[in-house]
Amino acid sequence: MAHAKKVCVAVIGVGNCASSLAQGVHYYRDAQAEDFVPGLMHVDMAGYHVNGIEFSAAFDIDQNKVGKDISEAIYTAPNNTYRFADVPHLGAKVYRGMTHDGLGKYLARIIKKAPGQTDDIVKILKDTGTDVVVNYLPVGSETATKWYVEQILRAGVGFVNCVPVFIARENYWQQRFKEANLPMIGDDIKSQVGATIVHRMLARLFRERGVKLERTMQLNVGGNTDFYNMLDRDRLESKKISKTNAVTSQLDYDLGEDNVHIGPSDYVPWLSDRKWAYIRLEGRTFGDVPLNVEHPDDLAHEMTEAFIREESVTSPGAGDVLEPSNGHKMQTTVD
Ligand SMILES: NC(=O)c1ccc[n+]([C@@H]2O[C@H](COP(=O)([O-])OP(=O)(O)OC[C@H]3O[C@@H](n4cnc5c(N)ncnc54)[C@H](O)[C@@H]3O)[C@@H](O)[C@H]2O)c1
Repeated sequence: MAHAKKVCVAVIGVGNCASSLAQGVHYYRDAQAEDFVPGLMHVDMAGYHVNGIEFSAAFDIDQNKVGKDISEAIYTAPNNTYRFADVPHLGAKVYRGMTHDGLGKYLARIIKKAPGQTDDIVKILKDTGTDVVVNYLPVGSETATKWYVEQILRAGVGFVNCVPVFIARENYWQQRFKEANLPMIGDDIKSQVGATIVHRMLARLFRERGVKLERTMQLNVGGNTDFYNMLDRDRLESKKISKTNAVTSQLDYDLGEDNVHIGPSDYVPWLSDRKWAYIRLEGRTFGDVPLNVEHPDDLAHEMTEAFIREESVTSPGAGDVLEPSNGHKMQTTVD
């Protein structure tokens, strides 16, 4: 296999998503360009092959993860995602990040902050030759995300925002990245086949078949830390906006706020990293005859999702805010 171009990736938040990404990079390191890899649009994109992704560093605040090699930290509790690859020692350490609002009241019950001061993020990104930073902070980490984005801009590296904190869709941040001539993708990573895309497709199906959608809802339950954290309703505002827009953007009329309910609903520990989504659409067909569609979904989630992310980090060029890709990989599209 020809030598792939390298892209050095640092990760903020070594949780389940980071675990899937690291496992996927290892699992598909020998894939051929013409292979069908579930969830990857291109094994090799413009000379960037999966095996060109090298992890340079990670940032977390969990005392059980900070100081470890990424290959160890990804299998450390409370991470509980599917283990489909044994990632070898990567020589890339988890450094002490900045807490800010990263730990909500629920996560603070199960995650103990690592002692010591925040490491020098800008210096680490520069010293490790990082090209791109991927953000996997918990939902509701508004201040922490913005703080890390400032470090990223100062270090002069690209950014992929996988969390529902609005960065890539905001003019202000678009301008900052353009001025710095740095690429950025976001916001809020979309699962390969998750509740959002299924719900979007059903809403689009109604529109394309001329059914007037009148009311819809999506209830999600899961058993990972993402869902545990989302029990704190105060952290959910942008997540709800992000997921709701992903569906309502499929319609060319306003459903009315009270007729759409989309959002995480509860935490069920025994589901572990599985997610259960209940989707319902109510509409009217020819002759005003009611049509109701219900769709329960059992989604083993994280393991498929990482591969879309891998692609995200290989594609940007300098100064690009990659809007067209958003609808495919990100829940929140640029307005
Ligand atoms: N899994 C999905 O399907 C999916 C889909 C869309 C978006 N997302 C988003 O991706 C993000 C990550 O999801 P996950 O399942 O990996 O979450 P997770 O809870 O497994 O991992 C979050 C990690 O961030 C760390 N952390 C908390 N505060 C920090 C800080 N200030 N600095 C550095 N690290 C910090 C935690 O210790 C943990 O290791 C969430 O915002 C989630 O909503 C996930």
